[in-house]
Amino acid sequence: MSTEIIVSGMRPTGKLHLGNYHGALKNWVELQNKYRCFFFVADLHALTTAYEHTENLAQNSEQMLVDWLSAGLDPQKCTIFIQSDVPQVSELNTLLGMITPLGWLLRNPTYKEQIQELLARKYAGQLQGDENAPLAERVKGLADEDISVYGFLGYPVLMATDILIHKAALVPVGQDQTAHLEIARDLVRRFNEIYGVDNVFAEPKPLFTKIAKVPGLDGHKMSKSYNNTIDLGEDLDSVRKKVMSMYTDPNKKKANDPADPEGCVVFAFHKIYNPEWQKRCEECKAGALGCVACKKQLFALMEPELKAFLDRRKIFENDKAQLQAILHSGKEAARASAEVTLQEAKRAMKVIK
Ligand code: TRP
Repeated sequence: MSTEIIVSGMRPTGKLHLGNYHGALKNWVELQNKYRCFFFVADLHALTTAYEHTENLAQNSEQMLVDWLSAGLDPQKCTIFIQSDVPQVSELNTLLGMITPLGWLLRNPTYKEQIQELLARKYAGQLQGDENAPLAERVKGLADEDISVYGFLGYPVLMATDILIHKAALVPVGQDQTAHLEIARDLVRRFNEIYGVDNVFAEPKPLFTKIAKVPGLDGHKMSKSYNNTIDLGEDLDSVRKKVMSMYTDPNKKKANDPADPEGCVVFAFHKIYNPEWQKRCEECKAGALGCVACKKQLFALMEPELKAFLDRRKIFENDKAQLQAILHSGKEAARASAEVTLQEAKRAMKVIK
């Protein structure tokens, strides 16, 4: 067991899909055995973009929590909490905001990309011009005030706060979060320089684990907004149907035509679920079996894990008292840890004596 601290969070999008599971959650379940871990539902971060649609926020947070527990996160081994349950986060966020140069936030590539992505999603169908033109061009003229808000620009400061407040050394995130983590590190250095301290915060490093790429049913990135997901808690009949409808090599017309497994969604899933995926690769190239048989085998490989997950999910979902108890003790532990750092930061800034 390492003494290093790990912090990670996910925005509550409701039920998780297999991309979230293989891309992050499964890794968390392993990390809880090796480090002191804080895992939280980033509900404040959800507000930075979806502030107009908060009607499902609490429910989405709960559904995600149920998924985490069903996948094996164990409140005896790690601290699980809801971000907004720890007011120290909001307080430190205010303090760190005071020393964050605006340029860092405006230049943050994630900020620019996300603005465009959100606009593209919102105005899908209304985008103008050539499909290959940069999104920035294509969304021109369509209103963008709605996400140009202070909270969204400050997303990386809040994320830095989440991490720094527990003095995390390591942050398991996807590559897309690299720029955010860099801002967290820069903030530590800037804080140290301005206030002449060196031990209030730790400089966090990203923890990239080699993770399986899970494509969506259509071969694009698995994402709710593309409507191509398999959810972790999905009933098995529905999963079976989706597996049988997965995108395969369009050049393979007959069962024993040789095919190209690269780009085949079924094969990408075999890589995850089938220990003998290399053999499958050869069989596919040789035309040794048809796509229908290959899909059936894939579903059979996925079924036990999904079924075990569903069984656990049923239990957690119906035990509201247990969910409340888990969140309560998580909140207490997270507050205690956060309070220590917050006091140190305030003292360094001379906000208190
Ligand atoms: N930004 C992260 C994401 O979108 C979620 C997040 C918020 C996070 N705060 C964090 C991740 C702190 C790690 C640590 O995936």
